[in-house]
Amino acid sequence: MSLKEKIKKLKEEKNAVILAHYYQTPEIQEIADYVGDSLGLSQKAAETDADIIVFAGVHFMAETAKILNPKKTVVLPDLNAGCSLADSCPPDLFEAFVEKHPNHKVITYVNCSAEIKAMTDIVCTSSNALKIVESIPKDKPIIFAPDKNLGKYIMKETGREMLLWDGSCVVHEAFCIDKLLALHNEYPDAVIIAHPESEEHILKTATYIGSTSGMINYVKTHPEKKFIVATEAGILHKMQQEVPDTTLIPAPAEEDNTCACSECGYMKVNTLQKLYDCLKNESPQIDVDSDIREKALIPIQRMLELSN
Ligand code: 13P
Ligand code: SF4
Repeated sequence: MSLKEKIKKLKEEKNAVILAHYYQTPEIQEIADYVGDSLGLSQKAAETDADIIVFAGVHFMAETAKILNPKKTVVLPDLNAGCSLADSCPPDLFEAFVEKHPNHKVITYVNCSAEIKAMTDIVCTSSNALKIVESIPKDKPIIFAPDKNLGKYIMKETGREMLLWDGSCVVHEAFCIDKLLALHNEYPDAVIIAHPESEEHILKTATYIGSTSGMINYVKTHPEKKFIVATEAGILHKMQQEVPDTTLIPAPAEEDNTCACSECGYMKVNTLQKLYDCLKNESPQIDVDSDIREKALIPIQRMLELSN
């Protein structure tokens, strides 16, 4: 039996569901029951009746699934699947920051730890960040954490001032503006689309800015036949399946790597073998302290309600 067949069989036997992010390897995306962005994945996690959730993504995503499903087993293929953005916001420093600004509403991007979510009023993802910020009365000051690039983008779009945490994603900050402009000169008919975790100078070049699912939807619904895609390169797998006759060019990163595109080293530590092993052994499991879990659940539920 192939590894894929073994995973499928075990998944049926154990009543497990495999949820995968667009940045996972193509073979993981192919075996998943659902592939989506952070919002879609948390919505799926909230509604699943599976006994085991295999989360093919990074730690904060699996943690969100566990917060929504404390009685279910949630496994992550590799516990090293972290996130530079989540790591850029240590709970003790964030607690002191929030305490310094007691009259502020706290909105956090889902790319953060459960401890940070427990100090939050509403969680958001890149799909719903504008809507969530706009749900807060205009006279109420806001702390936005941890992504300063997404925060700046929201401030520009909504015209609202926010206090930003100084965090960022290593993958999206690696895009090189000079190389991007040179690439666009080479393909002047290509439309640039970008994820809002990218820096302001990259976003300025983009015709469309949105979450991973927003970007896929954009190329599906626009007639242009060439796109330069500024986000993690794993998205190209699903995107190309959706628009087989369209040319998709990954935006270039500063460091010349072999694929001349950006890959998230955290997302890519998961492999099909590790996925099989974690389902078979029901390990490594994600656990969240019950006190933190109860506090973190409230802002996640608020986000899910506001996203319906
Ligand atoms: P999305 O919510 O757009 O899937 O983004 C997740 C992420 O980690 C981007 O780096
Ligand atoms: Fe985190 Fe960036 Fe990787 Fe997304 S791409 S998981 S934000 S490090």
